Amino acid sequence: MAQKSALVTGITGQDGSYLAELLLAKNYKVYGLTRRTSTPNYERIKHIEDKIELIPGDLLDQQSLTAAVEMSNPDEVYNLAAQSFVATSWSQPVLTGEFTALGVTRMLEALRQVKSKAKFYQASSSEMFGMVKETPQSEKTPFHPRSPYGVAKVYGHWISINYRESYNMFTVSGILFNHESPRRGLEFVTRKISHGVAKIHLREANFIELGNLEAKRDWGFAGDYVEAMWLMLQQDKPDDYVIATGENHSVEEFVREAFEAVGISDWTKYVKVKKELFRPAEVDFLIGDSTKARKVLEWKPKVTFQELVKMMVKSDIELLQKNSK
Ligand code: NAP
Ligand code: GDD
Repeated sequence: MAQKSALVTGITGQDGSYLAELLLAKNYKVYGLTRRTSTPNYERIKHIEDKIELIPGDLLDQQSLTAAVEMSNPDEVYNLAAQSFVATSWSQPVLTGEFTALGVTRMLEALRQVKSKAKFYQASSSEMFGMVKETPQSEKTPFHPRSPYGVAKVYGHWISINYRESYNMFTVSGILFNHESPRRGLEFVTRKISHGVAKIHLREANFIELGNLEAKRDWGFAGDYVEAMWLMLQQDKPDDYVIATGENHSVEEFVREAFEAVGISDWTKYVKVKKELFRPAEVDFLIGDSTKARKVLEWKPKVTFQELVKMMVKSDIELLQKNSK
């Protein structure tokens, strides 16, 4: 069988790096879109850099996206690039709309014009459920986004469906609930906690500053979730799927579990709650129903919540020890 080619936008991000590993293991020719930065930010892909081909491009620049599709001639496109941090979407709402909403249309246009037969994956999000209309949330749950990011993702979701219906393109949206890993950005709450706990454990810090400890999320492991992305594009028909563990925990539970991983039972001495870190509108409670994915894709998560927290704390301790040498 001829080698398949995949183009991954957002390859330098958490999911992009895990997905690239998965595609390489499946013998794909992997192309990654990277935007220009003044210093290289290939930390998450440096171990596979010689096995993948990087193409310069930006979600803001139509011509560069069209050229990337021409250069990679992909069988599959995974559109993971976005302004993905919810908190920033209030301070940069227009930019978030440009990247996370219109960026999807630009990618779809590039594909429509150059290779409309390629399969397209859009990184949709459980943030689209926002103020949830039912529990747990499935593919049928109506959206009520609570941030400029969530609103932009709803646009990206519907434009992907619209290109499927308008042009008969193979577009799928994965509605992924929160997924984390040692490669998670430091600004997201799970990594902020695991990194903070590791620092406290190594006596490099005395406390962590956090916002709303009551919010609940359905947290899974990113390595498990990229497998679901790939499975969605292997189906005969394009469709949308919720990917989740079906279990949720509060930020406080994550904190407690992380401190327990280093033998600290009274975490309250090490956490300061700051009002400034609360969001203008919060998503209080997310929990996903991934029955459809489990049935059709035969997908299920492998890493448990407790294993995930331990994995992240352990990795941050090792990272800090390595950096201090
Ligand atoms: P991430 O770590 O923040 O990675 C985002 C990627 O997008 C980075 O590679 C970034 O490049 C790239 N990017 C941002 N703006 C760009 C632009 N203008 N042009 C080209 N590339 C650009 O995010 P992630 O956690 O891997 O998430 C991947 C996707 O899934 C995102 O679309 C996110 O919104 C969505 N999602 C994530 C989760 C989750 O829990 N992780 C859940 C649901 C949906 P730089 O490295 O140059 O910044
Ligand atoms: N980041 C952050 N920092 N969040 C905090 C903090 C803090 O200091 N303190 C409390 N939180 C709370 C937030 O208010 C939110 O309720 C929750 O922790 C999770 O925040 P994040 O880790 O920033 O993730 P998110 O749920 O807003 O968004 C992530 O998941 C979405 C899927 O539901 C991102 O990965 C999005 O890109 C993704 O779409």
